[in-house]
Amino acid sequence: MAVTSEATVNGGAMRTYRIAILGCRGRGTSAARAYHIHPRCQIVGLCDLLPERLQTLGEELSVSARFTDLDDMIKETQPDIVAMPTATELHYDLCMRVLEYGTHIEVEKPMCATLDQADTVLRKVRAKGVRMAVHHQGRCGASMRAITTAIKEGRIGELRYMTASGKGYYGGYGLMNIGTHLVNNLLHLAGHCRSVSAMAHTDGRPVEPEDVLSSPSGMGTICGERITATLHFDKNVTGTLIHHRFSQVDSTAYGIEIMGTDGRLFWKSGEAWHLPNPHFVPDGANDQWVALPLSYLDGFDPGGAANEADYAFVDEFVQALDEKREHLCSGVAGRHVMEVLMGIFESAAYGQRVLLPQEDRHHPLLRWRKEHGLDDPEPLPRDLFTWLELEDQRLGR
Ligand SMILES: NC(=O)c1ccc[n+]([C@@H]2O[C@H](COP(=O)([O-])OP(=O)(O)OC[C@H]3O[C@@H](n4cnc5c(N)ncnc54)[C@H](O)[C@@H]3O)[C@@H](O)[C@H]2O)c1
Repeated sequence: MAVTSEATVNGGAMRTYRIAILGCRGRGTSAARAYHIHPRCQIVGLCDLLPERLQTLGEELSVSARFTDLDDMIKETQPDIVAMPTATELHYDLCMRVLEYGTHIEVEKPMCATLDQADTVLRKVRAKGVRMAVHHQGRCGASMRAITTAIKEGRIGELRYMTASGKGYYGGYGLMNIGTHLVNNLLHLAGHCRSVSAMAHTDGRPVEPEDVLSSPSGMGTICGERITATLHFDKNVTGTLIHHRFSQVDSTAYGIEIMGTDGRLFWKSGEAWHLPNPHFVPDGANDQWVALPLSYLDGFDPGGAANEADYAFVDEFVQALDEKREHLCSGVAGRHVMEVLMGIFESAAYGQRVLLPQEDRHHPLLRWRKEHGLDDPEPLPRDLFTWLELEDQRLGR
């Protein structure tokens, strides 16, 4: 269905991609700002169930084609790409609905709530002959590009192992929320993940089937206040992923330390650091982390409203479609992230290593409960703070 116009960019006639944004709250605003300033994209429609959100974003970006019905938007605006920055529990249904129109799609992370949902979406993507991207923008941003370049230049020698940690959210929730970005970046650096071994504790003891809960923010089914996982990648690289609940959420705790035979790198959103020493020596001479220079893509305005990594994610979509190849954060890559997440839950529940990709695509925690005679967990409040209060009450605190 793609209808495209021609624009002259860098002296050549190049296609402008028509973008429709489905969901105009926080993430929709962020995505729309990035598409809006990209010279090869034109936002042709905005859609939200709430007219005030449509109006706010429409006025900021001067987009007058505003809809409260997604079918109307797609039929009237004929987009090439529909971006779906919506709540996680809507991803599956919205992807399946939008794919009916044969447009390329991008969806926020995590891709879906279960692996069988992700499989079904990818089957439809293939059947429709379109491309899918999952909005793991950190993999495309300047700080990850700086890390990738440093590794390619041999600045840490041979990559050996990595340690990634979340922001201090309740472990299972942090895994589904921030863990998706961390795992996606680990996969970017180390390649395919072959297996996972994980421990999950709630209230200081290994998790039990009763600790399997409906997630806050609609992120499916989770368990574990504290999760520690070991990931085994191709090329004999290992990674440790830590999602532990702390009394306060701390964004500075979020990052990945990357160890090589000759040095270390540290990645976090918008920052990249190098330490030319593989072993920590607190002697003042060899323990100085040095910031790596970050370079922005052409067309990005660091003083503007758009986020740098979102812009790079959009640019990658344009390049991928031009070159008829997958996005760096493709649907297949997004599903592999979910295989790792579900593998971690399964390993923690059953107390054994899980080989990937797993054959059983149903949620492992629901299977675990069922095997112990328990139904699916009751729905809980979406709001994180209310959810945590109830969880603390359940644990007798
Ligand atoms: N990539 C990141 O860095 C990052 C950061 C935070 C959150 N997220 C992800 O973003 C998602 C949440 O984004 P948000 O906070 O902007 O979502 P939200 O749920 O707060 O807002 C989504 C908007 O979509 C609209 N909407 C829902 N269904 C619709 C429909 N059928 N038709 C039209 N409009 C519809 C809602 O009215 C709402 O305004 C989650 O999946 C979360 O994991 C990603």
